[in-house]
Amino acid sequence: MKKISACIFDLDGVIVDTAKYHFKAWRRLANELGFDFTEKENEKLKGVGRIDSLKLILKWGGVKMDEASMQTLAAKKNEWYVEDVGKMTSDEIMIGVVDFLDELQAKKIKIGLGSASKNAVPILTQLEIKHYFEVIMDGTNVTKGKPDPEVFLKGAERLKIDPSNCIVFEDASKGVDAALKGGMYAVGVGKEADLGHAHHVIPDFKDLKFDALESILSTKEGIKQ
Ligand code: BG6
Ligand code: MG
Repeated sequence: MKKISACIFDLDGVIVDTAKYHFKAWRRLANELGFDFTEKENEKLKGVGRIDSLKLILKWGGVKMDEASMQTLAAKKNEWYVEDVGKMTSDEIMIGVVDFLDELQAKKIKIGLGSASKNAVPILTQLEIKHYFEVIMDGTNVTKGKPDPEVFLKGAERLKIDPSNCIVFEDASKGVDAALKGGMYAVGVGKEADLGHAHHVIPDFKDLKFDALESILSTKEGIKQ
C-alpha cells in the first residue's frame, strides 16, 4: 500500500455529533411550515450542504418556494443551530478523537478538515481543537458538495500530499463516495451497513491506533475508484 502522510476528517458526525442539533433546527423550521419529518429522513441530510438540505426537506413536505425565501429560511435555521452549537463544550468531541489527533501529531502525519459546513471554524474553535488542523476546507471555500471530491482534493492539495497518500474519515455515505472518487483511502465512521463501500469501517475512534489502521489498509486492494 501507499504510505499514509495525511488524514482528512469530516466534521459533523466524525469529530462531533452535531447531527442532533441540525435535526432539531430543521425540524423546528418544518414544523413552522406545517409538516414534520423523521429521524430516518434526517439521515439523508448527512454531508448535504445547507441549501440542498432545505430543498430536500421542502420536497418531503410538498412545499414549493422561490430561491430568496429559501435563503431566508436557511438563515433562520442557521441562527437556531448556531445558538445550540454555541453552547457545546469539548466534552461533546466524539470518543477517542483527541487521542487520535495527538497520535497523528506525534507521528508527523498531516491533519486536515474536509466539511460541507460553513460553521466549521467556529465549531472547531469552540471545541478548542482548531490548532490541530493545518488545513481547513469547508462550505465557505468549496463549490461542489459531496459526493464530489472537491473538498478533499483541495484539502490534499493545500496539505501538499498526493490524494493516494491520504485517509479520509467520513460518517456519510456520500462522503465515502467523495473520498473514493478522489482516489483516497476512505475510513467510514459508523455502521458497516451504511458505509460498507469504504476501505474500512470503525464504530468510533476509541482505542484506534494509527499503525494498526495503516496495516489494516495495507491488506486492502488499495485505491478503489
Ligand atoms: C454537513 C452536515 O457536515 O454540513 C449537514 O452533515 C449540514 O447536515 C452541512 O447541512 C452544512 O452545514 P452548515 O453548518 O453550513 O449549515
Ligand atoms: Mg458528516
